[in-house]
Amino acid sequence: MEIIIQPDAESASRAAARVVARLLREKPDAVLGLATGSTPLRLYQELIRLHREEGLDFSRVTTFNLDEYVGLGPDHPQSYHHFMWSNLFDHLNVNPAQIHIPDGLAADIQAACAAYEDKIVAAGGMDVQVLGIGSDGHIGFNEPTSSLASRTRIKTLTPQTVADNARFFEGDEAKVPHHCITMGIGTIMAARCVIMLAFGSGKADAVAASVEGPVAAMMPASVLQHHPVAKFFLDEAAATKLTHAPYYRWVYDHKPGWQHDV
Ligand code: GLP
Repeated sequence: MEIIIQPDAESASRAAARVVARLLREKPDAVLGLATGSTPLRLYQELIRLHREEGLDFSRVTTFNLDEYVGLGPDHPQSYHHFMWSNLFDHLNVNPAQIHIPDGLAADIQAACAAYEDKIVAAGGMDVQVLGIGSDGHIGFNEPTSSLASRTRIKTLTPQTVADNARFFEGDEAKVPHHCITMGIGTIMAARCVIMLAFGSGKADAVAASVEGPVAAMMPASVLQHHPVAKFFLDEAAATKLTHAPYYRWVYDHKPGWQHDV
């Protein structure tokens, strides 16, 4: 794992955007795994800026989103479809036919999940997967006790995640769907590179447990210790519980020039 601690969320997001931009310049038809939540917003804003100001081209890119709430259609303001279009896709030249987000209204959820996995395989797998982290350590919507080998499927949100996400539903937990479709942990682990973003003190415990704790289904993001190319982009607040933070900073500051991709 590579732990990159930046002074604030803006600089951490810009550093993560440089990894994505470099990938796209080397491989214009890259497959991007994308995330929702408040955390990746600054990354998406930077990608939009790079597209507008530096011509970063998304025309040949394929995207797969991590998850979607069951029961919310694309027009629902809190659906992840709506989130992705308004915060990213509307501002880039991505081919709409190449955009994939789980269908929260699928009549046959199991078949839709299997088809989603097939599409990821047919596209060649994700070159990079962007992740945020839940305060309970979830990635996508893989809640604690999710199988570390799981694939795209329906999951039930924990009460903590329902409470955390109620802020997007006028603070009303009753409005938060309890079920979701999410890529599995095995699906995420198959990406060739993982970019984890975590900002703010509310993520500090989950980040420390994921990076320095044991690998455990109770802390889903800890599985990234098994990933060969996992990069954590943190702000200072999210890094406060890391006991080896000085070492991570030293490593980053002394990376050989040839290795510097961020
Ligand atoms: C949701 C999403 C996750 C996201 C998490 C954290 O549960 N399914 O992908 O990482 O929220 O959200 P935020 O970035 O708003 O803290």
